[in-house]
Amino acid sequence: MERITIKDKTFAINIPESRIQERIVQMAKEINADMKGKSPVFLCVLNGAFLFAADVFKNLDVECEITFLRVSSYEGTSSTGTVKNLVGVSASLKDRTVVILEDIVDTGDTAVYLLQEIEKHGPKEIRFASLLFKPKALRHEVKLDYVGFEVPNDFLVGYGLDYDGLGRNLRDIYKLAE
Ligand code: IMP
Ligand code: MG
Repeated sequence: MERITIKDKTFAINIPESRIQERIVQMAKEINADMKGKSPVFLCVLNGAFLFAADVFKNLDVECEITFLRVSSYEGTSSTGTVKNLVGVSASLKDRTVVILEDIVDTGDTAVYLLQEIEKHGPKEIRFASLLFKPKALRHEVKLDYVGFEVPNDFLVGYGLDYDGLGRNLRDIYKLAE
């Protein structure tokens, strides 16, 4: 499908499934090479990264674990605004190599928060993998170790990414059409 409609918005295809899958195989190859002998723990950031994490994970051939976490944000009543909270880190990350799997890094707020919080668990090293990256929106210094695609500041949907909770099931990635 070249164009789709979700609620009030129309989206046009941007990254087809074949390119996503091809790129993930390449990323997994790189990760396999870097992670040999490290027995890493992969951290899938829900909800958006669940398909990306599954497809990366299927292509790994090193000894590894995966666990799932969520960054819940809620609007605080104080002047500080949005309060974030990390939920679900049950595995012990102490002295482990941790690889964060994210769907997209936009402003980098979430990435910085994740790195800070995971650091508190005393890991040996943290690597960051994101399927998508919007370099023009980034407002922090964050080192991304593995990036699938650099994309412009368009709103994207599909392959885990949602518009108002919808569209995560799409196999391709779409961008908001003018
Ligand atoms: P950041 O904290 O600004 O880097 O944004 C991270 C989160 O915003 C991602 O994990 C997504 O949930 C969401 N997000 C950012 N850009 C998009 C987009 O284009 N489509 C859907 N969700 C997005
Ligand atoms: Mg995300």
